[in-house]
Amino acid sequence: MPGDTFYLMRRDIPVMCFDAPNYRVSGIKEIFEPDILPVGAGRDGLHFADWLSFRMIPASRIAFLRNLPGTGVLDSSELVFLNHGLSLLNQYWIKHEDEDLLWSNINLFENDFSEEVGLALVNRLKLTADDIKLRYGVSPEGLSPGDQPKRWSIDKDGNRILIKTDRSGELAVNELLASMLAQKIGLPHTDYKLGKDNDQMASFGKCFTSSNTEIVHALDLFNEYGFPDTSYKTEDYYNYTAKLFSDMGVQGVQEYLDKMLCIDYVMCQEDRHYNNFGLLHNIDTDTWSMAPLYDSGDACYANVPAKFIDLNADVIGKPFGPSGLVNLNDQMRNVKTGIYISDDIIESILPEYKNLLNEIGMSEDKQKLLIESLHLRTLRMMECIGINSK
Ligand SMILES: Nc1ncnc2c1ncn2[C@@H]1O[C@H](COP(=O)(O)OP(=O)(O)O)[C@@H](O)[C@H]1O
Ligand SMILES: [Mg+2]
Repeated sequence: MPGDTFYLMRRDIPVMCFDAPNYRVSGIKEIFEPDILPVGAGRDGLHFADWLSFRMIPASRIAFLRNLPGTGVLDSSELVFLNHGLSLLNQYWIKHEDEDLLWSNINLFENDFSEEVGLALVNRLKLTADDIKLRYGVSPEGLSPGDQPKRWSIDKDGNRILIKTDRSGELAVNELLASMLAQKIGLPHTDYKLGKDNDQMASFGKCFTSSNTEIVHALDLFNEYGFPDTSYKTEDYYNYTAKLFSDMGVQGVQEYLDKMLCIDYVMCQEDRHYNNFGLLHNIDTDTWSMAPLYDSGDACYANVPAKFIDLNADVIGKPFGPSGLVNLNDQMRNVKTGIYISDDIIESILPEYKNLLNEIGMSEDKQKLLIESLHLRTLRMMECIGINSK
C-alpha cells in the first residue's frame, strides 16, 4: 500500500491527519479542526484510535475471521480502512492522502452500498480484501459496533435499516415491546419491525442518523468530559449524566431518562449501559437532542427457560451504579418527573405483544410468566416511585 498517511474527514473537511501503518492508527500528525474532532477522541485527538476501535466489529462477531495468517482474510481494522471509514453512525470517514474523493459521492446515507459484506459477516463467511475491492465495494459494516449479529440493508423506499438477528426472536420482540411502551408514553424511540433475515428471526430498526445527524453515546461524552466518580451512589450517576446532557443544550433530559428507566424497570432490562443511550448531534446547526430509545433486546428474561424464571428475584441492571451496575429497585429512586407506565398501558399493548410472542413460537408457559411480570413490575415500579415522591 502506498504510504501510511490518512486524513480523518468530516464530510469534506479534513479534521486531522494521522499515520496508520498496516491499518493500525499509530500517531496523530496534525490537527486542522480541533473543534470538530469526534466527541470521545479527546481535544488533542489522542484517543482517536480507541474511539475508532470501539466502533469496529468486536471480536465476538469477527473472531472467526482472525488468526489465519497468509490467507488474506480481513480483520476488523482492515475492513474499516477498505470501507474508507464510512458508517451510518456519523459523518466521519478516512481518506488516504493520495485519494481524491468527495463525501457526496461516497457517503452511505445517500449512496447505495453493498449488502454482500453484511451478509457474509452474519453468515460467518471469510472475507478478503479482494472481495471488497473487486466484488462487493464499500459498506457500513466496518464501523457497526455491538455484540449482536447485525447488518445494514436498504429497503425499497431507500431507508437504511439495521437488521439484528437472534435465534429465538426474543431479543427482537423486546425491541418492539420497548418501542410500543415508548410510543404510549411519548418517548422518542427507534421504529422496529419483526421479521426474518436469512431464516432467522430479526428486528428491523430504521436508521435514526442521517447525513447531518450523528449518534454520540453517553460513554463518548464521559470519555471526552470525564467519568463520574467511582464513589458515587445511583442518584449521583444519574445527576452527573443528566447534567452532562443538559450542559450540551439538550432539552427534557430528566423526563427522557425517567421514561427510559420506567420502561427498563417493567421490562427487567439488563443491558442499558452507557453505549445504549445517548445524544443525536445535528452537525449543521450544532444542536443536541436525546437519541431515540434503541437496543432494548436484552430484557424480559430473554432466552431464559420458564422454569428458571423467578419473578420475585431482584434484577441487576444498568447504568447508574458503580461499574455501571445497579439493582433496578434502587435505580428507580432517581425517577422524579412522573409515573409513566400504568397497568392500563400494559393492558393496551398486550394484544399486539401476544401476537409477537406467538409469531416467534414462544411456549405458553413463558408467555404467561412474561405477561405476569409486566403487571407485577408495573405495580412495583409505582411503589418505588411513590416512595420517592414522599
Ligand atoms: N436504528 C439505528 N440507527 C442508527 N444507528 C443505530 C441504530 N441502532 C443502533 N445504532 C448504533 O449501532 C450501535 C449498535 O447497535 P445496538 O442496537 O446497540 O446493537 P448491540 O445489541 O449489538 O449492542 C448502537 O450503539 C448505535 O450507535
Ligand atoms: Mg448496544
